[in-house]
Amino acid sequence: TKNPQHGRTAYHFQPAKNWQNDPNGPMYHNGMYHLFYQYNPHGPTWDAGKLSWGHSVSGDLVNWAALDNALDPTSPFDANGCWSGSATVLPGGRPAILYTGIDADRVQVQNVAFASNPSDPLLRDWHKPSCNPVIGIPADVTGNNFRDPTEPWRGSDGLWRVAVAAEVEGKGTLLVYRSADFLRWERNPGPPLHASSPAVPVLECPDLFPISMAAAAEQEGLDALMAAGGSSSGGVTHVLKLTDFAKEDHYMVGRYDELAGDTFAPAEPERGDDPGRWRRLDHGHLYASKSFFDARKKRRVLWAWVDENDGAAEAKGWAGIQAFPRAMWLDGDGKGLVQWPVEEIETLRRKRDSGFGPEGTEVGAGGKVEIGAGIQSSQADVEVVFEIPSLEEAETLDDLEWALDDPQRLCAEKGAFVHGGVGPFGLLVLASGGLQEHTAVFFRVFRHQGKYKVLMCTDLTRSSTKAGVNKPCYGAFLDVDVEKDRSISLRTLIDHTVVESFGNGGRTCMTARVYPEHAAKGRSRTYVFNHGAGAVKVSKLEAWELAAAAVNGAGGGGGSV
Ligand code: FRU
Repeated sequence: TKNPQHGRTAYHFQPAKNWQNDPNGPMYHNGMYHLFYQYNPHGPTWDAGKLSWGHSVSGDLVNWAALDNALDPTSPFDANGCWSGSATVLPGGRPAILYTGIDADRVQVQNVAFASNPSDPLLRDWHKPSCNPVIGIPADVTGNNFRDPTEPWRGSDGLWRVAVAAEVEGKGTLLVYRSADFLRWERNPGPPLHASSPAVPVLECPDLFPISMAAAAEQEGLDALMAAGGSSSGGVTHVLKLTDFAKEDHYMVGRYDELAGDTFAPAEPERGDDPGRWRRLDHGHLYASKSFFDARKKRRVLWAWVDENDGAAEAKGWAGIQAFPRAMWLDGDGKGLVQWPVEEIETLRRKRDSGFGPEGTEVGAGGKVEIGAGIQSSQADVEVVFEIPSLEEAETLDDLEWALDDPQRLCAEKGAFVHGGVGPFGLLVLASGGLQEHTAVFFRVFRHQGKYKVLMCTDLTRSSTKAGVNKPCYGAFLDVDVEKDRSISLRTLIDHTVVESFGNGGRTCMTARVYPEHAAKGRSRTYVFNHGAGAVKVSKLEAWELAAAAVNGAGGGGGSV
């Protein structure tokens, strides 16, 4: 039987029903946040030929109102689907979209659309000019892979630029096009902005944006246009994010140079051209992210699609959510990104847990303490800091060399209930009373050649008793000097079927979808646990119940946008 409510989230973005994938054209304009997204208005599964741009607006990135689709596949240049793309605002104030159309011959082309009435605060109507497509598929593109234009930016010469992901000679490539009028676009004559190794023939959803090098202190974002002149210089560098087809999102910090023909020089060239070896945006389950500059709060905000893991779209009548929007800035090392849920999430905080003793509680070897007993733990925001009194007992990694390259497998072999030296310690969330079901988010400290390495894991293997659900283990090593800091922080957003974790202050993110069955019958619990040999101290613990947001018609008790 169809139960559309089942598994729906309380504060993550999703349409009222049907299929959603990539976030498209996010922007802040005239006091409103806009989110467009890949949407199949006809059903709960991806249907290549039927995709539209869904459209919602918000005043706070938390509560959303659904509008009519912004783009539907009704023109010869997008008759078989309006695929992913980006938005910007033209000088003079008219918002514009660049998107991929699957044309009447099923060829991938790039189209423009303009807001029909720029003074409509909701930007409800979009006009597709008949001069589309504005960029046809080039002769050297193979496999009909030519899509997902980035947010356009303007160079110091006043020309617009856009990068499009293209398969050129079997390599995932980013081609840059320039335009004076946003309608006639010409491909750059020189080398592409990026070309992957042949191991990566198809890229999707590229994102290129400026970022402040002082941001670690100020957390301030930059507009693609504000960094006009484009190039990295004077305290501004760039980030290139690529989605490796059917795998995951990776990024590289580097110098974008407009004057050198729109080139990108990676800050970590030793990682090579294959984005699979770049830094991972999220070590869990997340795809096709896209960021925008939020002029209201002067920050860069990231959206990302999080797919289902239960193969139950037909039964549910819907599939796909967006990760909670994250503010994003450059870490102090100038190479990594820090991601953190936008502060507006705090407007949903209702009740703080009081069931756990004073902060500074010790959790001994084998200890397990319930937290949040007084709150609804299935929609919560939990922040915890673990202090590690001694590293003495850390297990060695010296005989497990493979593990350095495969933290995910290390998490699978050394799960939350495999007792260790320093750790595993962390949270058990969405847990049933007897722990038949639980999702474990935890850390484990290893010694390796005289130094320490901290592993972060999200273990889904016991997240649900349901069959047919994909229940992997996610893992990553943290970029942390645990010998010096002696503490590790974790923030986890829990939302019925989402467990979105931010380790080490947001330097390592891990998003998971889980489908606990106990939730239908009874309450979910949250525990702090320690299965290490020595005690850990919990020096900070905040567990907040979050109210349901108003998301496209659901929840929020009629909350206003
Ligand atoms: C990424 C993607 C894009 C494409 C869109 C189609 O998930 O495959 O490359 O434009 O989805 O829905």
